[in-house]
Amino acid sequence: MNLADEIKRRRTFAIISHPDAGKTTLTEKLLLFGGAIHVAGAVKSNKIKKTATSDWMEIEKQRGISVATSVMGFEYRDFKINILDTPGHQDFAEDTFRTLTAVDSVIIVIDSAKGVETQTRKLMQVCRMRKTPVMVFMNKMDREGRDPFDLMDEVEAELGIKVRPLSWPINMGQNFKGVYNIYKEDLNLYTPNKQTVSETIEFKDLNSTELENYIGEKDAAKLREDLDLIQGVYNPFNIEEYLSGDLAPVFFGSALNTFGVKELLDCFVEIAPSPRPIEAIERKVDPMEQAFSGFVFKIHANMDPNHRSCIAFVKVCSGKFERNVNYKHVRFNRLMKFAAPTAFMAQRKETVDEAYAGDIVGLPDNGNFKIGDSLSSGEDIHFKGLPSFSPEMFQYIENADPMKQKQLQKGIDQLMDEGVAQLFVNQFNGRKIIGTVGQLQFEVIQYRLLHEYNAQCRWEPIRLYKACWIKSDDAAELENFKKRKYQYMAKDKEGRDVFLADSAYMLQMAQEDFKNIRFHFSSEF
Ligand code: G4P
Repeated sequence: MNLADEIKRRRTFAIISHPDAGKTTLTEKLLLFGGAIHVAGAVKSNKIKKTATSDWMEIEKQRGISVATSVMGFEYRDFKINILDTPGHQDFAEDTFRTLTAVDSVIIVIDSAKGVETQTRKLMQVCRMRKTPVMVFMNKMDREGRDPFDLMDEVEAELGIKVRPLSWPINMGQNFKGVYNIYKEDLNLYTPNKQTVSETIEFKDLNSTELENYIGEKDAAKLREDLDLIQGVYNPFNIEEYLSGDLAPVFFGSALNTFGVKELLDCFVEIAPSPRPIEAIERKVDPMEQAFSGFVFKIHANMDPNHRSCIAFVKVCSGKFERNVNYKHVRFNRLMKFAAPTAFMAQRKETVDEAYAGDIVGLPDNGNFKIGDSLSSGEDIHFKGLPSFSPEMFQYIENADPMKQKQLQKGIDQLMDEGVAQLFVNQFNGRKIIGTVGQLQFEVIQYRLLHEYNAQCRWEPIRLYKACWIKSDDAAELENFKKRKYQYMAKDKEGRDVFLADSAYMLQMAQEDFKNIRFHFSSEF
């Protein structure tokens, strides 16, 4: 197969949801269809068990197990599918944000009884920012849920995206009879079953009285009425609108019962985008280019202090990556080759000789990489789109062992490169502030500094509301602002100016007083 064909058949995506909506179950069923696993229940998921939410060591152990399932590659029909797993725990949201920069599309799972929940809303913001095409799977139709039309409206309003049902449920809960697949024009009758696929009947003419034979008079009438309404309310499905991230096709089903999942997958492989061009600072990179390029979007550290090693996850953006070939580490301006790149097929981590645009390769690393690093066949290319988001929690980090200042510094630097949290240095007093999205990260940092770097830190509280990256075309006003707010100015790890607002009010006042300054809540704008 030539390069272009290999790339065109790739579908790299993530499944996102609020915890418990059914992401793990759906992932498992997709793997089942791809033949990557043979029985349900075989997925060692990235899911962090509810019981472990306050015990981060336990969480890290589970995350350790899940390296192999961070990316799940499998073949389905003529397609090569890469599912990128995302941690469900909200304290690892930053990880999820970064993973979303490496996918070409997204499937959102929604619990039909609960509708749109907070975590989904947050993750959707990232998809919107990047114009990522999304598809929605309304899960748990075997339970009493909300009215499907209400759910459609809620998704539109809450997620800020137009929707178009491509399948439609016939009842729900106890009376759930199946779905009509609008996309394929067939009827899929529900039989609860955790392992096998249910019966599908081609059904192009819904006015045929045959429908009554399958689902009864009352439900047949209701289905016809619902579908009429759908044709009236929603425009016909337009794939271009989906690809531009403006329209989300919606499917209904029950992941647990392997129902509606095959329909989702079949439609997905047909309409979801193959690897898309990616913006670099220098130019737009087309996946079909012969020359290899890629970037690091995630670093997973091994928690074993005796073997401090990481896996850097690289998204191949163009061309073909090959084992033992020299590539340029752009930030170091140095050639490197990799003897043991891994790929993730059918839940096994294995050494690979080559990978194509769209694929993810894992490179064993000892601190050479940081998030956002580019690799290329030689070109100086820097990929954009890996923003840091304003953290939600802040603490001063202090050295608790004066003899170990150097170790502490090194530890902080490396952990920040890995993307565990963000570091800001206050320009007024030189103190270091760590910003995170969740309380757990502070514990993770403290533990890892001690066990991996033999350094001790102590946390001191600081009251901060937001860190904003500031920019202005008016150099004088920017200087004036920095002078006036000198106590609140910091630099991030890249040396960019960051304003630390201690309250929403303070931020608002600053925005009003300095109209020529732009306040950004992510580091890329
Ligand atoms: P998550 O990864 O999004 O957090 O969700 P996960 O798949 O783990 O599913 C959360 C719970 O919802 C699980 O039950 C799972 O069995 C159930 N579930 C998933 N899909 C469906 C569905 O279509 N119908 C119904 N009725 N339930 C579904 P649990 O009791 O929390 O876990 P488990 O002990 O069954 O694994």
